[in-house]
Amino acid sequence: MPHKIAVIGGDGIGPEVTAVALDVMRAAGAVLDTTDFRLGGFRYLEDGVILPDEILEELRRYEAILLGAVGTPEVPPGVIERGLLLKARFELDLYVNLRPFVLPNGHEFVVIRENTEGTYAGEGGFLRKGTADEIATQGSVNTRKGAERCIRYGFELARSRTRKHLTLVHKTNVLTFSGDLWDRTFQEVSNEYPDVETAYNHVDAACIYFVEDPTRYEVVVTDNLFGDILTDLGGAISGGIGLAASANLNPERMAPSLFEPVHGSAPDIAGKGLANPTAAVLSGAMMLDFLGESVIAERVRMACEGVPSSGRTEEIASAIHNNLVQDQT
Ligand code: IPM
Ligand code: MN
Repeated sequence: MPHKIAVIGGDGIGPEVTAVALDVMRAAGAVLDTTDFRLGGFRYLEDGVILPDEILEELRRYEAILLGAVGTPEVPPGVIERGLLLKARFELDLYVNLRPFVLPNGHEFVVIRENTEGTYAGEGGFLRKGTADEIATQGSVNTRKGAERCIRYGFELARSRTRKHLTLVHKTNVLTFSGDLWDRTFQEVSNEYPDVETAYNHVDAACIYFVEDPTRYEVVVTDNLFGDILTDLGGAISGGIGLAASANLNPERMAPSLFEPVHGSAPDIAGKGLANPTAAVLSGAMMLDFLGESVIAERVRMACEGVPSSGRTEEIASAIHNNLVQDQT
């Protein structure tokens, strides 16, 4: 049976990189029945559509969503990000954002970013906007349930890894309410996983360790905003953001999970054939894993090994395809 996949190429380099990802997955043996959804900043400029509830309901009928990138300079920042990407994450309850990294020395680690709460929840507002007495607040929403399900996912993932090591990253010395909730929940859940070794780092210290001593990490769990920032850093230390893949998961499969490269739409190089498709291809591999196609997923991942990290999209795509062919002969 083919897997039913919704594809949102989106803006900028998004369509170019998702096209390569689909080609590579198919060449590796994946049977995919794809439907293109014309969504993104370009569509908003055409007819004002971002992600209406009817389309969201339609998306629910697919096994997974493959997304390229959304956002375009002609639309004010945040409109498409909030209206499309964050809406999909929130409404489909994709509460785990899984971002794996491979360092140049071969060390692998993964960051689990909480994906539906924190400062991303949009709590806050203005008072006396535009005046000298303006006030802006931006709250952080943290629920016991939201923290616990992510932390639990972290313990389960750590348990399946070699070192069985899980690090909580937060800022408990300053964020004394949300940090306390996360830390307490982490301690309590850890009692159920005596086989998993735990550590805690403040997020600022974690930034130093990511650069100076990242091999200390195997599985990291953190909140939405810290996870956003830390995973860009994760990309930077592991070959660049052109390689960073991600999965927005609903682990209980109550809705389709969404797979996307960490990078953005890069409008400056869109349409020039200069996009690195590797992050999208590796996001495709994560999708295949989640669909139970782990043999094909591994084939795709292996094919990405050693391919040039910059150059023309076509050249990188051919290098991946050549590796696939060699693997199969
Ligand atoms: C990411 C992106 C998004 C985020 C933006 C586009 C809203 O940076 O997936 O990391 O902040 O989550
Ligand atoms: Mn980000």
